[in-house]
Amino acid sequence: MRDHHRAHTRRGLRGGPVRPTIGRRTLLAAGLGLAAGATLGSCSRESSARPFVEPGGAEVQAAERDRQPGPLRQVDLTATTGLVDLGGLTVETWSYGGRLPGEPIRVSAGEQVRARVTNRLPVETSIHWHGLALRNDADGVPGVTQPSIGAADEFVYQFTAVHPGTFWFHPHVGPQLDRGLYAPFIVEDPQEPLKYDAEWVVVLDDWLDGVSGTPDDVLAELTGGMEAGMGSGMAHGSMDMEMPSESSGPTGGSSPGSGGHMLMDATSDLLGGDAGDVAYPHYLLNGRLPSAPDNLRARPGARVRIRLINAAGDTAFRVALDRHRLTVTHTDGFPVEPVDTDALLIGMGERYDVLVTLQDGAFPLVALAEGKDALARGLIRTSDAASVPAPAYRPVELDRAVVAYAQMRPAEQARLASREPDRTIQLKLTGSMMGYDWGINGEAYDPQTIHPVREGERIRLSLQNTTTMWHPMHLHGHTFAVTDSGIRKDTVNVLPGARIALDFDADNPGLWMTHCHNIYHAEAGMMTLIGYEAGN
Ligand code: C2O
Ligand code: CU
Repeated sequence: MRDHHRAHTRRGLRGGPVRPTIGRRTLLAAGLGLAAGATLGSCSRESSARPFVEPGGAEVQAAERDRQPGPLRQVDLTATTGLVDLGGLTVETWSYGGRLPGEPIRVSAGEQVRARVTNRLPVETSIHWHGLALRNDADGVPGVTQPSIGAADEFVYQFTAVHPGTFWFHPHVGPQLDRGLYAPFIVEDPQEPLKYDAEWVVVLDDWLDGVSGTPDDVLAELTGGMEAGMGSGMAHGSMDMEMPSESSGPTGGSSPGSGGHMLMDATSDLLGGDAGDVAYPHYLLNGRLPSAPDNLRARPGARVRIRLINAAGDTAFRVALDRHRLTVTHTDGFPVEPVDTDALLIGMGERYDVLVTLQDGAFPLVALAEGKDALARGLIRTSDAASVPAPAYRPVELDRAVVAYAQMRPAEQARLASREPDRTIQLKLTGSMMGYDWGINGEAYDPQTIHPVREGERIRLSLQNTTTMWHPMHLHGHTFAVTDSGIRKDTVNVLPGARIALDFDADNPGLWMTHCHNIYHAEAGMMTLIGYEAGN
């Protein structure tokens, strides 16, 4: 397989993945911000043929200058260990500044963000600014766009936030985002066209850290299951090299302090089959359990904008507000023609903005963990006198209409001009839960597989889900148009058996990830890179 790619390394293969002529060392060096020539100099006669724009390269800097960076906004972030109160349940976890979710960052479109990150975790980390079309070297992918931030180290991200909208940030290291390391990133529009009286950010999450183990335990269990449970003589890792393959005995697949995280029977019609892989003891809305919900207060009759973010590791949420309908105004930060719905389905990494005019009373805002028979909730109150439904209460709106992508249309200013794609990149989503061999085009993530694009091209990502599970596929650094509705998004749920085409303009040079936002699928291998070719 590798030889096949190597044989087509030169530019001839339009649309196919290319093994770059540079070696792994060089890519890493680019990520470290070193001059590639310095490391390559003597080691390769191909040193002049650097096929891809480097994350800190001239093209990236030129693109940043074109954004006309505005005033500087300084932010300090500390990734730290410690106790967090979920509302009567205190857990040991990792978070930004001891808060869950982390304190939102709010800037105005056009401003420059200068975020100084201090790492007080026992391990390396990074920050990825999910959904932002920012300069590539601030994208936060260790080994691709930067070195990871070591324990006790600091790192400064500086970038211009161009597009207004609802975004968020999280680490791009292992399954760290399935701890408490997430926070909203709101870019306000200086010419905000919507009128509303109040605005709330609502972050949804699935939780197990410090309760039934850690996300690292879960990942070990899910991926270890492949070797211990399925030992078929193929795709064996180092564990099998040390162990006779028939000894999948009593300790098979387990790691200390873990076990029982695997969910076998979660199914959902809305998600077209398997809903998730991981059993979570809790679901949170703004870091709170349903029994001690976040209280969101306004006056009766107030028109409120709610920015919904799904920061979960393995859970889609079906969201509804008791005795209200919601008007959807934005998908992943970009405006749509307003559309009314009873409920919304939000995959991991997705965001929706909605407007709602509040009645008089107390109304649970409920996020059903899709296919998992449990919920998260917040409480919207316009009256302190009103009685509050029990924590497990499910509004009837959950079982009414759930708006589909096809029922939405982009707002005029968010429409991608119609154009034939210059290049189509085929991405087959592959793998299974039993093998835990999630991948793209049958392969696990390899930083040397880079799908080439060229600045100025219209690109089509043609996704085909060949698995029995849905995948929320995310692209870094760009917001695509989902065919055929045209709505703009950066994360899209691809159901089992589905094919979907995502179009974008290659206008942000660099090396960009595209991956499943189920963090365990991503870590198992469902990630790949898109790279802008260097030169003209
Ligand atoms: Cu929130 Cu690589 O993504
Ligand atoms: Cu997936």
